[in-house]
Amino acid sequence: MKKYFILLLVSMPLYIFAYQPFSAGAQVPAAGATWRPLVIYYSLTGNNRIVAAELGNAFGCERLEITSMRERTGFWKVNCVIDQLFDRDDLPGPVKFDSVQYNPIIIACPIWIHRLASPMRTFLDHKRLAGKDVYAVVTHQGNYGEKDEQVVKSFLAAQDMHLKGYGAVLTRGATESEIINETKSIIKRNFSEMEKSISNNTR
Ligand SMILES: Cc1cc2nc3c(=O)[nH]c(=O)nc-3n(C[C@H](O)[C@H](O)[C@H](O)COP(=O)(O)O)c2cc1C
Repeated sequence: MKKYFILLLVSMPLYIFAYQPFSAGAQVPAAGATWRPLVIYYSLTGNNRIVAAELGNAFGCERLEITSMRERTGFWKVNCVIDQLFDRDDLPGPVKFDSVQYNPIIIACPIWIHRLASPMRTFLDHKRLAGKDVYAVVTHQGNYGEKDEQVVKSFLAAQDMHLKGYGAVLTRGATESEIINETKSIIKRNFSEMEKSISNNTR
């Protein structure tokens, strides 16, 4: 009797292992191969909030708004200029964010003095999102060109982010629906890898 009891005890883990639910062809995500997009945006005057809402809708994903504790309205817009000209860090608002949970990252951010606005730069600084795939949309008022695009791209590369798609929205005189339509076009034109990933991950 004692012999049977010992046999049962020894073979128990084998039964447990053998009857784990298993379906042929089930995909177990490889370590580090998470696919959970997140839109991260900063907006002072509302344009990037519109862009981020459209990106979130298009990819059915969460959004994270970066906020700043620095006064930036009225006369205090001067703080934006000082940040940009003197490479001053922002005073960031509180943010709850576990970067391990997300990839890719989709950024929406205004251009201030030819580069990403300081609240976004401060957030991304110190290689906080190193190794992530990134798609970026910037908004501007027309004083923006290829050189500025390179500055933004170089900044993202220096943060060890892998840029997969990029687009710029001209917001001067644009209505909300024009900003939405331009965002849609960027997704179609420049974010094709993202669209491919969506179909692979939802199949
Ligand atoms: C301090 C500051 C600097 C700016 N610098 C530029 C610039 O260099 N080139 C440009 O085309 N637009 C510039 N803009 C315009 C913004 O990029 C544009 O209005 C953007 O759409 C604002 O986005 P938001 O509404 O989400 O804050 C600047 C705006 C501010 C407040």
